[in-house]
Amino acid sequence: MNLTMLIPTHIPVLVNEILEALAVQPGGRYIDCTLGAGGHAAAILERSSPGGQLLGIDADPEAIKIARARLEAYSGSSLLINENFANLQTICIKYDFFPVHGILLDLGLSSLQLNGSGRGFSFQHDAPLDMRLSPNQEVTAADIINTVSEAELAHLIREYGEEGHSWQIAHHIVNQRPIKTTLQLAQTIEQATGGRRGRLHPATKTFQALRIAVNHELEHLEAALKQTIDLLGFEGRLVVISYHSLEDRIVKQFMRQESRNCICPPGTPTCVCRHTASLRLINKKVTSPSLTEIQLNPRSRSAKLRAAERIANQDELHITVEELGGSTEIKDNGWRRPALLKKLRRTFLSAQFG
Ligand SMILES: C[S@@+](CC[C@H](N)C(=O)[O-])C[C@H]1O[C@@H](n2cnc3c(N)ncnc32)[C@H](O)[C@@H]1O
Repeated sequence: MNLTMLIPTHIPVLVNEILEALAVQPGGRYIDCTLGAGGHAAAILERSSPGGQLLGIDADPEAIKIARARLEAYSGSSLLINENFANLQTICIKYDFFPVHGILLDLGLSSLQLNGSGRGFSFQHDAPLDMRLSPNQEVTAADIINTVSEAELAHLIREYGEEGHSWQIAHHIVNQRPIKTTLQLAQTIEQATGGRRGRLHPATKTFQALRIAVNHELEHLEAALKQTIDLLGFEGRLVVISYHSLEDRIVKQFMRQESRNCICPPGTPTCVCRHTASLRLINKKVTSPSLTEIQLNPRSRSAKLRAAERIANQDELHITVEELGGSTEIKDNGWRRPALLKKLRRTFLSAQFG
């Protein structure tokens, strides 16, 4: 199926809330790590014009094609890259795109991937069990389903799907091998669990688990979050939307940790970690979609938005004017201390290539 024809079917989630949390301003520079169909990117580019710039990243080459068509009017101010956001700093160095005013991650999959890609993300459409975001990845969901041991499969389904019936499901899968398609797998899971009991289809959690495993979703999220700190200018915003508790836990822990001045275990008499805060939480509680948005776009119901602002940490505050090459603090187009950012950039480059 031609995915470009499906552009209107992916409705971006929490658009106004994202623009507000990112504090999008004319002339600002933003990174959308999860470009998808380009819905959020279009809204950011519109709000940041004149002069705004956007670096859009997506691991899925089909998403890049769709977003490129959608963002044609902004081709002069957007750079769209088919890459994994786990390589965020490398991408930004390569394209000289930092520091930035804001970074967005809208995690998971787009409706286009779930419904129209034929890549096996959904049990509602029969398709080969692939589930790779990028064709360059080697391991498919079928490889995992048909090769790993029963115990490993049960562990994966429990850890990444938070599925209580993981052992029964793994046992049935191993007995039914080889399993090659989504419907074959969904039927096997239904047999294992005795069919639908609650609101969720019995295959929902196992499909989530496989998708997470195939695409190393949690590892890549952790890797990307860590890289955002050095890319954000002071007062720059980090905004993340997650769709399930495993993702949200990682985002919550990361933002909490980076907004604290000490991360020693509770009860430690004096601080030994020397950790200093680089972020300030913007919304202490998550922002969720309104009932109206959920009615219009049921996919948004599980969305949770968390946001934080980059602050100078203790080390950065103590860098002297001499160290900065004699320049003093100036505020220019939303940037504070551009000279300090240049210094950070040097540190950052030597860390990467040194
Ligand atoms: C929920 S969709 C984003 C939708 C987008 N915000 C919009 O408005 O159309 C998530 C996108 O992130 C991409 N993605 C997921 N994990 C990724 C990763 N590790 N690196 C790059 N892109 C990723 C998916 O391919 C998908 O297109």
